[in-house]
Amino acid sequence: MTQARVRALRAVDLAVTDLETASRFFTQVWNLETVATDGGVVCMRGTMGFHHILTLREASRTGIVRVVYDAEDRATVDRIHEQVRAAGQPVDAPPRGLSSPGGGYGFGFKDPEGRNYAVVCDVADHADAADRPDRPRKLSHVNLNCADNDATFAFMRDALGFRLSDHANNFRFIRCGVDHHSMVIGFNKEATLNHIAFEMPDLDSVMRGIGRMRDHGYPVEWGPGRHGPGNNVFAYFCGPEELPLEYTGEMQQVGDDHVAKRPEDWTWPPGRVDQWGIVPGPTARVKRAQTLFRFSADGHRLDG
Ligand SMILES: [Fe+2]
Repeated sequence: MTQARVRALRAVDLAVTDLETASRFFTQVWNLETVATDGGVVCMRGTMGFHHILTLREASRTGIVRVVYDAEDRATVDRIHEQVRAAGQPVDAPPRGLSSPGGGYGFGFKDPEGRNYAVVCDVADHADAADRPDRPRKLSHVNLNCADNDATFAFMRDALGFRLSDHANNFRFIRCGVDHHSMVIGFNKEATLNHIAFEMPDLDSVMRGIGRMRDHGYPVEWGPGRHGPGNNVFAYFCGPEELPLEYTGEMQQVGDDHVAKRPEDWTWPPGRVDQWGIVPGPTARVKRAQTLFRFSADGHRLDG
């Protein structure tokens, strides 16, 4: 039987210490839209159809609760559940109907470094999905620091069906669809969050986002620039509670014939860390923010 694969990065669930301030930021500055509030969890959407792409809840410390992937149908979710169990990783329960906003069918689980994920299908997504200028469409990718990149990569490949798109600059860029990468996993000392990237519809929207963030006291910490692997444009920020955030766009689209490059294929001229070279590299502040946040202990347990 062929391997069952997740088909998209759907959502990230975050814990924040000041829910009201973070909610105001993500709607009024980051330009998402609140679609539901349930039991203290605020759900926000982008312009694409996913019911929500970000949830916020209040907790005693800032952190990431889980990353949520989308699967095609219940049979695929069931087979991924078996693949996660075959990899020896804990699951919360068998796949079942979910009572959280948007509903659907899925289960939660942990990876070899203790991160939390869910795989879901049949969520009540939105019919309106047109681009709107200067508003994020969806999550682009989540970048995770790893203490054991090889173990995390093997799990993402074997249990979830991710494929290697490129290996460069101490990162593996991995995909689950046509986007060059939906996850990035680093070679680091600890398993923490590096950053969360939101896809803007075009370069103009990334640039307008930089201006809007500056207007609200969030200066760009790296960018604008264009990355090597993925060829995407970028701007990095420290959001509320120092959350490491990226606006990105124009991600390279790849097919099954894509050939992954190796670290020696990706080199920059002296003094360069991106294709454009119009700004210096990341600030000390954002480098620090890219080490601060951990996954919660019990975030693999879904309601319902
Ligand atoms: Fe990124």
